[in-house]
Amino acid sequence: MSAITDRQRPLVEASNIRKSFGHLEVLKGIDMVVEQGTVSCLLGPSGSGKSTFLRCINHLEKVNSGRLLVDGELIGYRQRGNKLYEMKEREVVAQRQKIGMVFQRFNLFPHMTALENVMEAPVLVHKENRAVVEERARRLLDRVGLGNRVNNFPSQLSGGQQQRVAIARALAMEPKLMLFDEPTSALDPELVGEVLDVMKELAETGMTMIVVTHEINFAKEVGDKVVFMDDGYVVETGTPEQVLGNPQEARTKSFLSKVL
Ligand SMILES: Nc1ncnc2c1ncn2[C@@H]1O[C@H](COP(=O)(O)OP(=O)(O)OP(=O)(O)O)[C@@H](O)[C@H]1O
Ligand SMILES: [Mg+2]
Repeated sequence: MSAITDRQRPLVEASNIRKSFGHLEVLKGIDMVVEQGTVSCLLGPSGSGKSTFLRCINHLEKVNSGRLLVDGELIGYRQRGNKLYEMKEREVVAQRQKIGMVFQRFNLFPHMTALENVMEAPVLVHKENRAVVEERARRLLDRVGLGNRVNNFPSQLSGGQQQRVAIARALAMEPKLMLFDEPTSALDPELVGEVLDVMKELAETGMTMIVVTHEINFAKEVGDKVVFMDDGYVVETGTPEQVLGNPQEARTKSFLSKVL
């Protein structure tokens, strides 16, 4: 495939994704296309399936049906003929390295410094050269504004600083796609801005991002696309102007009237 075709191919293509927990169907046929270098913001009420969908993208949850392609690769399965075979854990781990994820809770290792947290996966999982990784980790911590806190432990950092370390840690694996699941909702209000600023800068570098967020202003300002989900369905997709400024569906209007 030529480089041009590659560049035009969407980075994420989800078609008809269904996911149930027992009898509860939480994703009821999700279709979503995410173009390279764009930011998609996922909005929707609690329980609508936003986190579950993100977790399906990096195969932390197994889908019941549908197809998920990231960078042209089928996630979690290998196709032989017209049959799908589940990948071995080792192959899933390899796929997941292309996909960085930042959660609501920072999940840093408490016994490691900021620098060690950022270096851990590339050194242990990728078996990369320590000196090379350390250089990259320092550069990333600098980029998220923590160049002077590299030797601090998580307990010595604010929530906003810890979340910025978590972003640097995800970036250390040099992912093609970054998933954010309400990265600012556990933070004190005065710390939200510094994390959103880092995410905005990341978007400006051309990183492809899917962001579950209740920060409507971030979606407006940084989002290329807004996807509104409700009850396991994508209800409405469009530009921020379309979905936030001129929603077409009653459920979108009702949700926005509560959060705006
Ligand atoms: N591991 C699980 N086992 C059983 N049910 C689950 C599991 N994970 C999620 N669910 C259910 O799936 C539904 C969707 O949950 P999900 O966390 O994806 O929603 P969400 O849109 O991210 O909500 P929120 O805005 O509150 O984070 C909910 O009803 C939830 O209770
Ligand atoms: Mg969630």
